[in-house]
Amino acid sequence: MKGPLVIAIDGPSAAGKGTLARRLAAHFRLPHLDTGLLYRAVGLLAEKSGRRPGEVATALQPSDLADPDLRTDQAGQAASKVAALPEVRDNLLNFQKKFAYQASGAVLDGRDIGTVICPGAPVKLFVTASLEARAERRHRELRERGLDTIKPRVLAEMAERDRRDSERAAAPLQAAPDAFLLDTSDMDADAAFAAALAFIERKGFRSSGP
Ligand code: DC
Repeated sequence: MKGPLVIAIDGPSAAGKGTLARRLAAHFRLPHLDTGLLYRAVGLLAEKSGRRPGEVATALQPSDLADPDLRTDQAGQAASKVAALPEVRDNLLNFQKKFAYQASGAVLDGRDIGTVICPGAPVKLFVTASLEARAERRHRELRERGLDTIKPRVLAEMAERDRRDSERAAAPLQAAPDAFLLDTSDMDADAAFAAALAFIERKGFRSSGP
């Protein structure tokens, strides 16, 4: 028998996985966890408090995930650094696994969802795009939020974060062998959603909604 629908989405930053995860969660009426927020919260709180990142990870509260500063690139860089520490990853593991394996099913997005958090997920998506396309999107998004940025800097920081996330020893960013690869370099959000949905429906999962 087919178990609950667990959708594991991985990929580098600004590839479109957050938007895709939110749309799939709404379509299938599943709870969604943006796991990057956990690492962002640990990175920022450790920086602000001077406490050990591993210790911060054990004491994380739901309210810590509501800080608007978590969306900044500074938080992204801090997250990428603490995410390389095995102690931090270990301390965040159980919470993520519990979320993934709740009875309703779930959507999770991050870097190691299909490889470490729920390798048994029936649906795994690896969402990627060229560095150029991702930096362009990120630059546009930051400007729309009124932040003053220059594209070469956005691109350089993104390349640095990609390298750190992919080359670390602990749970590096990589596609699970059975992941569906979705390159969104030339796709908008609607096209990415349609391609992902077609893949999921081919696996026999359909929305129970109207
Ligand atoms: O997806 P994001 O940009 O919010 O993630 C921020 C950082 O957190 C990212 O650079 C790497 C790390 N991360 C991770 O190592 N594992 C995850 N499952 C999610 C994020």
